[in-house]
Amino acid sequence: MKHMNESEFPTVAPSLIAADWGRMFKEVESCMGLGICWLHCDIMDGHFVPNMTMGPDFVAALKKEFPDAFYDCHLMVEQPDVWTKRFIDVGADMVTVHAECDPDAIRKAHAICQKHQVRFGVSIKPKTPVSILEPWFTTVDSILVMSVEPGFYGQSFIEGSDTRIAEIKAHCSESVWLSVDGGINPENASLVVDAGAQILVAGGSFFKAKNRANAYSAFQQVFDRKD
Ligand code: DX5
Ligand code: ZN
Repeated sequence: MKHMNESEFPTVAPSLIAADWGRMFKEVESCMGLGICWLHCDIMDGHFVPNMTMGPDFVAALKKEFPDAFYDCHLMVEQPDVWTKRFIDVGADMVTVHAECDPDAIRKAHAICQKHQVRFGVSIKPKTPVSILEPWFTTVDSILVMSVEPGFYGQSFIEGSDTRIAEIKAHCSESVWLSVDGGINPENASLVVDAGAQILVAGGSFFKAKNRANAYSAFQQVFDRKD
């Protein structure tokens, strides 16, 4: 399993969906240049969400160029059991599927990750009752709390998402990594970290910032104040 560990939390996970797709290698290089090796890859199938993004071949191309990055694959797809192995084969370090999918498909995806010793996460949409996570609170490696409706970057953080993070945190095992995804920026970072988020996925606030180094250090300053 990849070098990523809890000692580096809280951390920023740049969401590639918000990068300039025509210059993706350069965009990833800019992350590496800042010492960021966590890459959040949003995988959309046009069914689970009304948008399409990257497939396994795209992740494979990134992996070839940047073998040391941590590939966090967030699958917003209807059939996670069909796609999980494809992303493992191209180098996913963590596969996260949606709690709203068919429970049997989630169980199959979980078993595939366990078999291949790849971290497995479950994600929850903003309007889904937290109780849907009951089977997963103590059995998964990671829980990803969506703070916008999945599908598009650049949306605003849904108020009250911090309360959901805290509620989920209270239920899950210590070892479960807790991520928040959607509308995160240096201004609301403190709120979600206080609620228990350890991995802050950032699309627009990082890639569309006038100065990425400054955006990244603004996050770091928030984290440093928590030490
Ligand atoms: C939404 C994706 C997120 C999102 C992040 O479906 O899962 O990763 O695009 O982008 P921002 O931070 O701009 O909301
Ligand atoms: Zn995502």
